[in-house]
Amino acid sequence: MKFFIDTANLDQIREAAALGVLDGVTTNPSLMAREGIKGQPNIEQHYVDICNLVDGDVSAEVYSTDFAGMVKEGEKLASLHKNIVVKVPMIKEGIRALKYFSDKGIRTNCTLVFSAGQAILAAKAGATYVSPFLGRLDDNSVDGVHLIEQIAHIYTNYPAFNTQILAASIRHSVHIVRCAEAGAHVATCPLTAILDLLKHPLTDIGLAKFLADAAK
Ligand code: E4P
Repeated sequence: MKFFIDTANLDQIREAAALGVLDGVTTNPSLMAREGIKGQPNIEQHYVDICNLVDGDVSAEVYSTDFAGMVKEGEKLASLHKNIVVKVPMIKEGIRALKYFSDKGIRTNCTLVFSAGQAILAAKAGATYVSPFLGRLDDNSVDGVHLIEQIAHIYTNYPAFNTQILAASIRHSVHIVRCAEAGAHVATCPLTAILDLLKHPLTDIGLAKFLADAAK
């Protein structure tokens, strides 16, 4: 399973990369706004800065919602760095754009996916990644991990689908473990969720005992 970090914060990306287990980054317009990144050339420069911190895929989302706009923005984003993956929303024009990018060899991440039907469409359009938002489903009393299981099952039925499941909107470390059980290829997580994987009280107790014995 690959780990991506879901942030546009350079310090958090640096901290996660320093762990040595980071495989990529996802961003979205809200995460960019949270860091105060707006307008060109700031947005494009920020993506380049992220790409220089991590040797892995970096999802950069288009802001347009029409086909021509998405194509123009996506081609510009893809030209910024070899690791850029163009993030496209799950809308009708987005499906056309995914197919266009796929035919041109530009890698994509289909975002805002909340159903198995949407995941089938994304795969048919040749998306490199599909991003089911499990935390937002959980927030609405729907089992988000079940959607990951459903998509994994469907994609396994059709080996010609090359789309990887990128579990998104992850809230905590239990989500990561359940997504791994369900067969997600990637989990994109807040830094806290990755660091929480470290925690177990018996590890802390065991280490304290080892250190105490070593000092004897
Ligand atoms: C994924 O690429 C999205 O950026 C993200 O996971 C959304 O998560 P949220 O529901 O915490 O905003």
